[in-house]
Amino acid sequence: MDLQYFLCLRITPLFLLMPCGLYCLSVHIINEEPVHVIPGSSLVLKAQIQGGHLEEITMVTWEREPETGIAPVRVTLATCPGKDLECAGTRPNVRVNTEQQATTLQINGYSAEDAGVYAVTVTDRTGARTTAQCIVREYEEVHHVSVSINVSHSVLVCGEAWGTDPRFSWLHERAAISQNVGKVSSDGTSLLVTMTPICGHFTCMVSNKRGYSSATYTAAPCESGGKGTTAAVVCFVLLLLFGGVLAFLLWRRHRHNNRGERLHEHLDDTI
Ligand SMILES: *[C@@H]1O[C@H](CO)[C@@H](O)[C@H](O)[C@H]1NC(C)=O
Repeated sequence: MDLQYFLCLRITPLFLLMPCGLYCLSVHIINEEPVHVIPGSSLVLKAQIQGGHLEEITMVTWEREPETGIAPVRVTLATCPGKDLECAGTRPNVRVNTEQQATTLQINGYSAEDAGVYAVTVTDRTGARTTAQCIVREYEEVHHVSVSINVSHSVLVCGEAWGTDPRFSWLHERAAISQNVGKVSSDGTSLLVTMTPICGHFTCMVSNKRGYSSATYTAAPCESGGKGTTAAVVCFVLLLLFGGVLAFLLWRRHRHNNRGERLHEHLDDTI
């Protein structure tokens, strides 16, 4: 295929999609989605405004609506109208600051009702509007940790319900997992047990910024080295004692016999 023809085919649709080319006003939220917020802390969303004639912005608006629901109600959190884009929040805990190329929304004392889809809309002099959205959710505590065993594959699997950003770690008899015990998967959720037989307590600990929770799988008790040694020592001592008593008895009997013989000899001599 002719290169020019190919490029035309490929590039023309792009221009059709961008009728105003580089002069389009655009806005995008910098935060990585979804944003998780710990209750009581502050939610800060930052958006960047690009392209177009920035001096022609006449309004910046921040809104929020529930993430789910049949008829989600959209509420306005702040508006920044006019040439100097002076912002006004609709609630006492909402602060918005807008400059030519950036706008920041801050909600202090975040609570469960503040979750939802946040939208920032930029309007220019011609009335053209552009919007960016961002999902905001509560940073959830770790919930319902459990450990199950896959017997056929010698794998312990750790589960957690809906905590945000859970981190998994494992312990065997309250110590870190050594090579002799097994190998933890790269995401930490499972432990391939290589020790045989599988014994002792395996604990999975799940943590995140709000706390931690754990669950334990209990296998048969381990035959500890300490116990084995003790048993061997006790056996040895008993054997020694028994041997000693036996030797003493034999020696006494032997002496008794000797003395009897000597007595006989003595008697023979005098007769
Ligand atoms: C055990 O693990 C293997 C491999 O991951 C899997 O195919 C199998 O279904 C698991 N068995 C059970 C009972 O979960």
